This record gives sequence, C-alpha cells and structure tokens, in this order.
Amino acid sequence: MCGIVGFVGREEAAPILLDGLERMEYRGYDSAGIAVRSEKEGLQVKKAKGRLRVLRELTRDGAELSGTLGIGHTRWATHGEPNDVNAHPHISENGRIALVHNGIIENYMEIKEHLIKQGVTFTSDTDSEVVAQLLEFHYHECGNMLEAVGRVLRRIEGSYAFGIICADYPNALIAARKDSPLILGYGENGNFLASDVTAVIKYTRDVVYMDDGEIAVLTEDSIDVFDDELIPVDKEHHTVDWDVSAAEKGGYPHFMLKEIMEQPEAVRKTVSPRIKDGRVVLDDVALTADYVKELSRIYIIACGSSYHVGMVSKYNWERLLRRPVEVCLASEFRYSAPLVDEHTLVVVISQSGETLDTMAAMREAKRLGGRTLAVVNVVGSSIARESDDVLYTWAGPEIAVATTKAYSTQLVLMDLVGLYLADVLGTVEPAEYSAIVDELAALPEKLENVLAHVEDIQYFASRYFNHDSIFFIGRNLDYAMGMEGSLKLKEISYIHSEAYASGELKHGTISLIEQGTLVVALGTYRALLDKSMSNVVEVKARGAEVLAVTTEEFREKMEKTADAVIAVPESHPVVQPSLGVVPLQLFAYYVALQRGCDIDKPRNLAKSVTVE
Ligand code: G6P
Repeated sequence: MCGIVGFVGREEAAPILLDGLERMEYRGYDSAGIAVRSEKEGLQVKKAKGRLRVLRELTRDGAELSGTLGIGHTRWATHGEPNDVNAHPHISENGRIALVHNGIIENYMEIKEHLIKQGVTFTSDTDSEVVAQLLEFHYHECGNMLEAVGRVLRRIEGSYAFGIICADYPNALIAARKDSPLILGYGENGNFLASDVTAVIKYTRDVVYMDDGEIAVLTEDSIDVFDDELIPVDKEHHTVDWDVSAAEKGGYPHFMLKEIMEQPEAVRKTVSPRIKDGRVVLDDVALTADYVKELSRIYIIACGSSYHVGMVSKYNWERLLRRPVEVCLASEFRYSAPLVDEHTLVVVISQSGETLDTMAAMREAKRLGGRTLAVVNVVGSSIARESDDVLYTWAGPEIAVATTKAYSTQLVLMDLVGLYLADVLGTVEPAEYSAIVDELAALPEKLENVLAHVEDIQYFASRYFNHDSIFFIGRNLDYAMGMEGSLKLKEISYIHSEAYASGELKHGTISLIEQGTLVVALGTYRALLDKSMSNVVEVKARGAEVLAVTTEEFREKMEKTADAVIAVPESHPVVQPSLGVVPLQLFAYYVALQRGCDIDKPRNLAKSVTVE
C-alpha cells in the first residue's frame, strides 16, 4: 500500500522519481506527489489527485522541478480522502521538511492535538502530516536532523516507511522503517530508497534491505544505516536478479495478460530446480525428518489469492499427508486462539512477503512456539526474512494487481512441499509420488497448450460480459479453484460474483438462480465429476446458463448438459487445478476488457496490502 521512492545524486531527481513511481503504481494509485530540493528554488512540491499521468502532466514529466535530491509517493488512501492536499509529500509548517510515508501512525490524533496546542497548523487530514510537523518540532528542539528523526520514532506508534528531505541538508536523504518495506539502492550516479526493488532495478541491482527500527542517511556516494539508538549498523548487500524487462509490458496491452502468458516459464523456474532424479529436493528448508514425523497439525495462513492457494493445498495435503491441515485467513488467525505448539507447522503464503496481516499472523504463530515456513515471491521481503524457513516462488516481478503467475507458482510450490512432507511421513505410495512429480514436470508444456487456445475464452467472454452476477460452483479442488476464478472476475470486472461448493447450493444460494443467470461450473476433479454434473443439471433446470470448465476427457459428457464448455488437458488430480485456473484467469481478463475496465489497476485495490 503506497509506494515511496527517493533519490540523491548527480542527476535530475524528478524524472527518476516519476519513473520509480510509475513502476510502483500498483501499490496505490489515487494520488501522487514529489518534492525536489534545489540550490536556487529550495523545496519544491507538486502533488495531484488521480493517476500518476496527472502528476506527469503537471510537472511536464518532471521538467518543472529542478534539483538532484527528492522524494516521491503514490498513495492508497487510509487517513483522509484522496485529494491534492492529502497527497504526499507532506511539508512541515515552516516549509523546510518534506516527508513521504507508507503505513499507518496509530497515535497520530494524540500527537496532533498536542502539536495544535503548541500552535501548529495542519493542512491535511492525514496521519503522515503529523509526522512531518512533529519532526519540525523536534528538529527545532535539537538542531540535528538524525537526532530529531530518532526522537520522532520513539514517539510514534504504528507502521511506517519514511523518506525525508530537509532544506538545511541539501545532500541528504533520510529513510526509516518499521513494518513497512523499504530498500536502499547503490547507484552509479546516486543512491535510492524505495518501497520495492522494481522502482530501482533500471538503475541498480545492488541493494540493502532495511530492518525494523533502522534509520538511514543517504548522500550521493554513501549510505549509512543506524539502529534505533543511532548506532551504526553494518548491512549485507544483496544483488537483485530480476530483469528490468520483467517489470515492463513488453508489447502486451496489460501486465495481467503478460503475466498470464508468463505462467509456463514461471512454473518451470519454480519446479525444475526442485526435482532431481524424480525426487523432490528442497535444499532450502531445514525441516528434519524427526520434526516432520512429530507434526500433529499444519496451519496454512494467507490472504486473498494466496489464501485460495491454501484452500487447494488443504485438499491435497490432507490426502497426501494424513494430517489435519487448517487454512486460515491471516486477518482472522491473528485474533483467534489458534492451537499452535512446537508440533505445529505454520505455512504462510505471500507473493509480496509484506502483507501486514500475514506477517502479524506469522509472528503470532512463532510466539506460540510453532515452526514457520514461508512461500514467498519477493526475495528479502519481511516475511521471507522473519520466517524459520523460506521457499521462493520464482515468478519474477508481478505488477498487475490481480495475481496470476504468482498464484500459479505458489500452487506448484505447495504441491512440491506436500509431496516432500508426505514422502518423509511415508503416507504416499511410490507410484503416486512419481505420477505427481511427472505431472509437475510436464505442467509448463500443458499450460502452453491451454494458452494456445485463448480465442475460445475470448469468445465466451464476449458472449457473457454483460451479466450482472456470476456464480462459480464446484466440489473439492474445483470449489477451491472456483474461489480464485470468482475473485479474479470480481476484482477486475466489478461483476458481482460468488463461489460455492456445489453441494451447498441447495441450502440457499440456488434461490438466486433465475432465467439466464450465468453459472461457471467447474468439473475437473474426476472423482466427483458425476456429482458435479448433477448440480449442473439442477441449475440448468432453474434457467441458468452454464459455462463449464472440465478436462478433455470429459468434454463430450459436459457438452451434453452445459451451454458452453472449455476443456483443459488432463493431469493428476493434485496438479489439475494448476491447469483449470488458467481459463478462469483469461475469462476474467477478457470480460474486464470488454467492459472497458482498468485491468491492471482495479478501483479501490492495491497489490501489496500493508495495513490491517
Ligand atoms: C492483495 C492482492 C492479491 C493478493 C493479496 C495477498 O489483495 O491484490 O493479489 O493475493 O493481496 O497478497 P500477498 O502478497 O500476501 O500474496
């Protein structure tokens, strides 16, 4: 949520800041702003409600602001409506300090009241402006910016990543973080701060990940990091291996379509290094056989689509491991009374590795004595660094807010972990183990096959895009897959949609089916196909229009009942959802396209949700 960027160096800052913001716009896009300092003009600030292009026009692509030191922000509003005034950067009352913030300051009201009593006037409704004003207050008191930042951090509660510049420090950029991501980058012509590496990979791959409680001072040729007592800290450098082109559209009209098309490769990169001589090898985890054998329970914790991966894995893992597997929404888990002890494995799934609820749930699980294993896409992200073990999905940067390739890589990685654990426990037959391994290895090719038939799905999207309400039904793995299909559709096309377990329809939802209601019936789970077919017949009898997704093997059977059928190649049931979900992603994409929606940046959403 919210993207921040900063630059200090030997080049004009404004174009670099705008470029960085553009690459992070998926983090929030209701308003944006930049502040640049120059010798002649002092601090100059431009901000604008709306997409980044409005700010680009306002600043003539940055040409309006000269100077080589600056900060920028793209906002997803929490405190105060999206407008020009509430947009960042926020400026202290004397106009000498500018600040950008990602996160939430929980005790801002109390500090604001205190400052108002001291005579400070506020212009915005944000919690972030309070920090800019408090900083001026402490700077005035102590006369040293670093010390003032330290004092502010001791007063505020909540989560934050800050980028700060001060007119009195013409060559310094200050950064601080707690529970919101922040990286520092070493460039040839200057140094950077950013919420996300995608903002800086065009300029540098040499980065440092800030830890909670740290403060950094960046100049054009140095980066110094301090702990919360202002004692210098030695930081490890990391090399980012993401390619710049991976964060660009590369000729596709939308990132979402590009990322859907990248799935075979992303899956290949995630699976192939982890299969050796027909065996699953997870070199990067340190789970001993003794520990696995003593496991009494497994929790899978996640949000959004990552949670839907957890739903698929629950079905698969319980079958393979014969151990109880509970899937929890992170926001619920953290405030429940979970049954976690040293015999509990807590698997957290997160593309970004920064989702606040997921991180908080993981910390709670650790506090209760559980062992945590994180499935994460972003190297060096907070969840990856705090988890006991981490397994990376190798999806590369995902920019579209609606996830596709990250979801697919999470699915296959969870299949691999499930197989690995089942093997240690001896709960999977060798023949089944080999069949699943073979199917995972064959999956990229089968995915390519599904993606080669995009026109069929385009056609169905053009036939159905006008529906107001669409239901997804399925049983078992198909139900879990339907949850993801329904979420994809509603988030980018704004069509009301629900996913139901087919067997549950008769307990209420079937009353919503009337003449012409579109039902997407999922029938890829072979073991329950006949039962799913009965449910299709039931909704048809009440007037529903049925679009079915099944496997090639059952196409003919389905065609006898459904109005339209999409078929995907066969696979082992454990792996089948990886194929079945792709038409659902494409269906959502083309429906949203027909409806003229802003596909990569759907309204009210952000990709990385770093607030509760
Ligand atoms: C947001 C994104 C979703 C994502 C969810 C969880 O809602 O739009 O695509 O599934 O957050 O994010 P995570 O990074 O933890 O997987």
